[in-house]
Amino acid sequence: MSTSVWIRGGTVVNADREQRADVLCVDGQIAAVGHELSVPAGATVIDAGGQYVMPGGIDPHTHMQLPFMGTVTADDFFTGTAAGLAGGTTSIIDFVIPDPQQSLIEAYQTWRGWAEKAAADYSFHVAITWWSEQVKADMATLVREEGVNSFKHFMAYKNAIMADDETLVNSFRQALALGAMPTVHAENGELVFLLQQEMKAQGLMGPEAHPLSRPPAVEGEAAQRAIAIADVLNVPIYVVHVSCAESAEAIARARAKGQRVYGEVLAGHLVVDDSVYRHPDFAVAAAHVMSPPFRSPDHQQALWRGLQAGHLHTTATDHCTFCAAQKAAGRLDFSKIPNGTGGVEERLAVIWDAGVNTGRLTPSEFVAITSANAAKLFNIYPRKGCVAVGGDADLVVWDPAATKTLSVKTQHSKGDYNIFEGRTVTGVPSHTLSGGRLAYVCGDLRAEPGQGRYVKRPAFGPVFDALSRKAAMHAPQAVLR
Ligand code: URP
Ligand code: ZN
Ligand code: ZN
Repeated sequence: MSTSVWIRGGTVVNADREQRADVLCVDGQIAAVGHELSVPAGATVIDAGGQYVMPGGIDPHTHMQLPFMGTVTADDFFTGTAAGLAGGTTSIIDFVIPDPQQSLIEAYQTWRGWAEKAAADYSFHVAITWWSEQVKADMATLVREEGVNSFKHFMAYKNAIMADDETLVNSFRQALALGAMPTVHAENGELVFLLQQEMKAQGLMGPEAHPLSRPPAVEGEAAQRAIAIADVLNVPIYVVHVSCAESAEAIARARAKGQRVYGEVLAGHLVVDDSVYRHPDFAVAAAHVMSPPFRSPDHQQALWRGLQAGHLHTTATDHCTFCAAQKAAGRLDFSKIPNGTGGVEERLAVIWDAGVNTGRLTPSEFVAITSANAAKLFNIYPRKGCVAVGGDADLVVWDPAATKTLSVKTQHSKGDYNIFEGRTVTGVPSHTLSGGRLAYVCGDLRAEPGQGRYVKRPAFGPVFDALSRKAAMHAPQAVLR
């Protein structure tokens, strides 16, 4: 039986424009956008008067059910995607992270199994944690058969999943050959390791030492190195969780010279500062331990400026929740605190409140950085990230006048801490549609395990760069604002 939803009377916001229009969704897709639509009998009606109708959020950086630092995140693919739906996020791109020496395909199949319970659509970046001819062949299989078009490289986490320069070079070159986007966690893992040892030798064992062991220069060095390698190989590059002026400036400099470099910013890095690490309660300080760490307010301003100027492109959360009992593993040694925080449910509201309500961003720019740019960069646009006929009916109806105080007491995530605790935001979802289904209605979360679908992302085509006379990769530069 056909199902239809008619969203009437709202203002449709896309990355390129706003328009007053109704939206008709039929059988999971957007069937019409405009006025005087021919609406099937029995359609569910949503009155969006005074509200915005926007593409559902795409969070291009989450870790659900991640085994990491000796434990596993509290949110699995159901609870994490359900929390996202409650906040207007309808797709996530999570990470398959093979152990060094583990087969990429085996790890990918494991993550696909874990994700079957997802309540919203999902896709995977795959991490390259080691190098061999088999890894190279597996990258090709993942791109050509499984719809993976992005590979992640952790430049930090020495003695665990860190990729050295040899691995970066080999993997970036193979990504270029396959039409896939290399992405990096940019922190110099050798320096982090050294600084951690030095902190501990000085008796600094608490969470306050975490940001001291990962200063902005350590991130800036790795971002510049990855960008330089990508430049030599003529491959685009996407830098995840840019947290400081040093790496934002490295991206801006490279872009000014014409290099295809893209940057992602976390909602947490935009509004939470490094004073949290000096909190006297270990549990509170440890709850904020993530990498790169929260930074001082001048770095936050650099991130906002980057989003406004267009040299930073996407926003994400790095949703990676560990509870207090798990964080306690590092009570006597900060370097053992599992790294990660939440936010998949709060990202849109936090960025709307701190971005649109303050005049930093227009509603269309908000759509660009919360869904459209991620869809373009990871090649699922306009199926996702756009309110247009033929696209997936992944939509958020946004009430710009409603307020909410964010709290662990009301969040849907299974984490036991909320890094935005007590922040009152104006602008929240009233309805979230996921594949045409009403997944969230005015406080009522209707997420169901298994309703999310795996989203294949096609490779980018090869092009010849006439200027450099080198093989290059068609990247979506032209369509980013
Ligand atoms: O602290 C973090 N960010 N944990 C998740 C793993 C990563 O680095 O993205
Ligand atoms: Zn990371
Ligand atoms: Zn991450």
